Amino acid sequence: MSMYDVCVIGSGPGGYVAAIRSAQLGLKTAIIEREDLGGVCLNVGCIPSKAMITAAHFLHRMQHDGPTMGITASKIDFDMKQLKTWKQSVCDKMSGGVNQLLKGNSVDIIMGEAQWKSKTEIIVKTKDGSKSVAAKNFIVATGSRPIEIPGFQADEKDVVTSTGALDFEEVPKKMVVIGGGYIGLEIGSYMQGLGSEVHVLEAADGLLKGMADPDCVQVVARKLKKKGVQVHLGAFAKSWKKSGKQLEVTAEIKGKKEAIAADKILLTVGRKPNSDEMDFKKVGVQVDEKGFVKINAQCRTSIPNIYAIGDVAGQPMLAHKASHEGVLAAEVIAGKNRVYDAKTVPAVIFVDPEIASAGWTEEECKANGYADLKVGKFPFGANGRAVSMMETDGFVKIIANASNNVVLGVHIVGPEASNLISEAALAIEMGATLEDLALTIHPHPTLGETMMEAAEATLGHAIHIIQKPLRKPANGASANA
Ligand code: NAI
Repeated sequence: MSMYDVCVIGSGPGGYVAAIRSAQLGLKTAIIEREDLGGVCLNVGCIPSKAMITAAHFLHRMQHDGPTMGITASKIDFDMKQLKTWKQSVCDKMSGGVNQLLKGNSVDIIMGEAQWKSKTEIIVKTKDGSKSVAAKNFIVATGSRPIEIPGFQADEKDVVTSTGALDFEEVPKKMVVIGGGYIGLEIGSYMQGLGSEVHVLEAADGLLKGMADPDCVQVVARKLKKKGVQVHLGAFAKSWKKSGKQLEVTAEIKGKKEAIAADKILLTVGRKPNSDEMDFKKVGVQVDEKGFVKINAQCRTSIPNIYAIGDVAGQPMLAHKASHEGVLAAEVIAGKNRVYDAKTVPAVIFVDPEIASAGWTEEECKANGYADLKVGKFPFGANGRAVSMMETDGFVKIIANASNNVVLGVHIVGPEASNLISEAALAIEMGATLEDLALTIHPHPTLGETMMEAAEATLGHAIHIIQKPLRKPANGASANA
């Protein structure tokens, strides 16, 4: 049995990145995976859902925007089986790419399920038996899985999680989504776009509660309503039954019992860390009351040679946070003096229009001691590129510290919000001010100009919207500060 410098458990965007970085740093590295390389993200999460969202958006644009642009087709056919085939080819390509990258970096890939034997050894249950793997360091990147609620156990046929929903052979005529969070709204939105009648049951009094800027959520909620998605707030799913092929969900909606018919029930009420499947107690790794493996700023657990990254090690459960931690853990093992010091983990919700954020909301700014804020918005409706794309819903909102104009938060709802937010993340990481954004020349005509104009708007002088003057100059001419 050879001794590895690093053994990574789990090959999602946390694990495979950690393994590649470890190998780049000259460490002898192995990676263990029990399912498919790339984990949830590449196989049953981020990537396939974005493929489905792209298809639904494309279909919607052909049906609704095409005729305005003079593009018509006598009949637009949509074949779910073909869409599924294409979606799978996207996942296979990405997973194959991870395989090549790992091999190209001389990482040993071991397919099977890992269990602790000691602090320096694991047993991997493979399809042919079991294999012992010894390593000086371990990086645990085992991810998370969907949670269930009483009365709803996912069988991936009638009651599905995101995994089952991404594998539908046909578009369900009626779908009840339990949970109006990230996954419920992403899948619910694209299913509606593909032709499903969608009901969302959300226990809270608003969608995406505490997950996004409330002004951004309002834009999405309005669009969902316009498209015919039926959102029920204060709605608790209680039970379901099946008669013949038809399902029926019983829910308590604002205290009243209601029954909603469905062909599929999608359960998206959150995810929990996969920390209970490996016996962490055996090696003395501490886990908190929510099941997250406890780590320090170097991703080290309570056992110095065992590291944990990604969903299993705490919120936010986002792929890019996992990758960032993967690089960090590998570099710490290689002897680099690094700590997790990111100021922001940008977040994107791929609904229509997309919501993306970096930094704090106004509420969070106040909770963090910034009471005096400057807040400004610039609408996509006033941006030439957005108008020429027929995608004018939404805005860029910037929140800055009033005393020095340092940007504290950027919240975008609108076209390509997912791509625009990276500039905001960089601005926040660098401690940029409103002037830094406003005085950076942004190319025309692009959606990116909205960031520059939102900064100008926050300073009180955006060019392409009419803003009330903040103060009158001494000579009486009308101008902003
Ligand atoms: P979530 O935490 O985003 O939302 C769950 C929702 O379910 C909440 O709004 C909650 O109030 C509601 N809920 C809970 N119990 C309920 C009940 N009994 N009846 C009705 N509603 C109920 O969870 P979700 O959507 O499963 O996503 C899990 C995580 O996955 C997210 O927190 C996110 O970190 C990650 N994710 C990220 C994505 C991205 O980056 N674009 C996409 C998908 C998931």
